Amino acid sequence: MDINQVVIPAAGLGTRFLPYTKSIPKEMLPLLNKPALAYIIEEGLAAQRTNFLIITNQSKQAIAHYFAESTELNSLLHAKNSGGFLGNLPQVIQQCRFTFINQNEPKGLGDAISLARGHIDTDYFCVCLPDDIITPEHAGLSQLITHAQQQQASVIAVQEVPRARVSSYGIIVPKKQVSTHLFELADVVEKPSVEQAPSNLAIVGRYVLSTTIFKALDEIRPCAQRELQLTDAISYLLKHTQEKVFAYKIQGSRYDIGTPIGWLQALLTLALENPEYAPSLREIILKYAQ
Ligand code: UTP
Repeated sequence: MDINQVVIPAAGLGTRFLPYTKSIPKEMLPLLNKPALAYIIEEGLAAQRTNFLIITNQSKQAIAHYFAESTELNSLLHAKNSGGFLGNLPQVIQQCRFTFINQNEPKGLGDAISLARGHIDTDYFCVCLPDDIITPEHAGLSQLITHAQQQQASVIAVQEVPRARVSSYGIIVPKKQVSTHLFELADVVEKPSVEQAPSNLAIVGRYVLSTTIFKALDEIRPCAQRELQLTDAISYLLKHTQEKVFAYKIQGSRYDIGTPIGWLQALLTLALENPEYAPSLREIILKYAQ
């Protein structure tokens, strides 16, 4: 099974992180010295994927700017012998192919993904949501691709969440447990009530999807907020086609950086795991813990 492209929807409003997101995309929130989106690209590279389709909009030029080669900056840094400050960014830019696709209006995650249709050249493709950061870095996507190739089917990432929190997530309805971490799905439901939740396995922002999802996105209707939901399209795939969909319980920790507290959690975790930052951060924390 060939899987080439990684679709990264990054055209949302970022309401939960306003007013910051009024001018700066949340996908460009700093996590140490790199934007969140850079971690997603590196996760793709770790899964041997180099072809990225980023769904963006006119007010998010900072994204394309970050991943463009800048000969002017390079020569300025070179003259000051400071090229190292760019870290691995020049290599990342060299290795990857970036295509930017415009979403005129934030009409939902499903709508954003549907815009990639004409660019996908294999039967399956990946989707990574840039506000879901998974550590250890690089862990997420490669696990899903392995299982999609084994099952020859779509696979979505899930993690257990406390039952009291199920109503904040898309939740899977397992049909059968295939192995310790792998489930075949009967359905998926968006934000069920605690009483009605079919499981506590919540969908995390990593997917390997069959291109049949585009037909499903054509068939479903927008939700009450007038947004096209990816969960509804996956549910359609399960109910109206012969295709199977699996869920894989990914290893690692996941942080939703779409809210200030989730971003802070991700930032502190990355800093505490990084030998360059950890000693100074520990000192600061100890000072306030006394
Ligand atoms: P989210 O729902 O987490 O992002 O979508 P959001 O809509 O920007 O955030 P809030 O709810 O207003 O705070 C997950 C990903 O899908 C993208 C977002 O940019 C985010 O990375 N997205 C969402 C789009 O590209 N287009 C959309 O219409 C909606």
